[in-house]
Amino acid sequence: MKMYENELKAIKKSNRFRERVLYEETLCDFASNDYLGLGCKKQLLKRAFDRLSMFATHAPKASQMVNGYHQVHKDFEEFVCRQNHFEAAIVVGSGFLANLSLIEALPRRGDILLLDEEYHASGILASKLVDTQVVFFRHNDSLHVKEILETSTYKRAIIGVEGIYSMSGDILDKEIFEIADKFNALLIVDEAHSSGVVGEKLLGVFELFGITPRENHIKMGTLGKAYGSYGAYILCSNHVRDFLQNRAKALIYATAPSPFDIELAHQGMLYILKNRDILAQEIKQRQALVKEMFGVDMPGLIFPYTLKSSKDAISVQERLKEEGFLVGAIRPPTVPQAILRIIPRLDIDIATTKRLFTLIKEVQV
Ligand SMILES: Cc1ncc(COP(=O)(O)O)c(C=O)c1O
Repeated sequence: MKMYENELKAIKKSNRFRERVLYEETLCDFASNDYLGLGCKKQLLKRAFDRLSMFATHAPKASQMVNGYHQVHKDFEEFVCRQNHFEAAIVVGSGFLANLSLIEALPRRGDILLLDEEYHASGILASKLVDTQVVFFRHNDSLHVKEILETSTYKRAIIGVEGIYSMSGDILDKEIFEIADKFNALLIVDEAHSSGVVGEKLLGVFELFGITPRENHIKMGTLGKAYGSYGAYILCSNHVRDFLQNRAKALIYATAPSPFDIELAHQGMLYILKNRDILAQEIKQRQALVKEMFGVDMPGLIFPYTLKSSKDAISVQERLKEEGFLVGAIRPPTVPQAILRIIPRLDIDIATTKRLFTLIKEVQV
């Protein structure tokens, strides 16, 4: 008996059926979050392998709270703390787990949790697990946050925002920092798509906005995007770190992150630090091209191109594939309106990127 036949039929009918596809490696990849193209740099792979080979074990072994905490984790944490001027760090298996750790653990009974309505699905899922008032505020609207904080009663307030929003590509409204500080609210900034992309050292929005981290600030960064690896890190105060280590179930009851992935990300970050000027310049060139050809300001490296329907998204994606380009076709419910999610990645040259953009403008749907 096919137990989910009706559900699957409905998904297919609405053009929302998802599949995993092994795409040709020859396609020009404008779909992935490997923003800087570090995933093709074999020297990083080799450096990570060589470094990890020096240790007796490369296994994550157990939870970090048992004996899975590895020297490689500790070295990485010290490095990201120094770079970002935070007191404490915790490595996590993935960004999804990091959001689950933070959002499931920090809001307690009597508190209020405020999430941007475009917050990532991992945070939204976690918000369903808390015994707290949960309010979704209008996208990137700091004044709405202020209004909610002024008119609600709560013990502690926890706010969740993203540095660069994963689908719209919008950059965080800087004013949220002032509001969080004024109300002494914990501010979680998910920098999945801004770390490695914005700021002088490409560290993310804290750096870009010149924010000195305070006790109430938390930065979450993922390693599976600009850093070309897998995993995540949480930056916070010692106090919040201690609390998370004792209450965040997704940290306590999960095996430690893969030491290889953490080392690979560490090598990626060192590479970025060394090459930051050229990388920043390359990012600017792509932002300028999007502005020139579509009149759109792209604060990071996410260019959403809106289409009329999910069907159109699929057909334009197919058409571009025939021409050798791969773009993301993102459909509801992930986004309210179907988009091509185009990532002008740095390892694809400007001329090729321009060819894709010209084609997109020409494609008739
Ligand atoms: C904004 C945001 N947060 C968190 C995640 C989850 O991170 P990860 O893929 O490392 O689990 C993603 C994407 O995957 C994301 O786009």
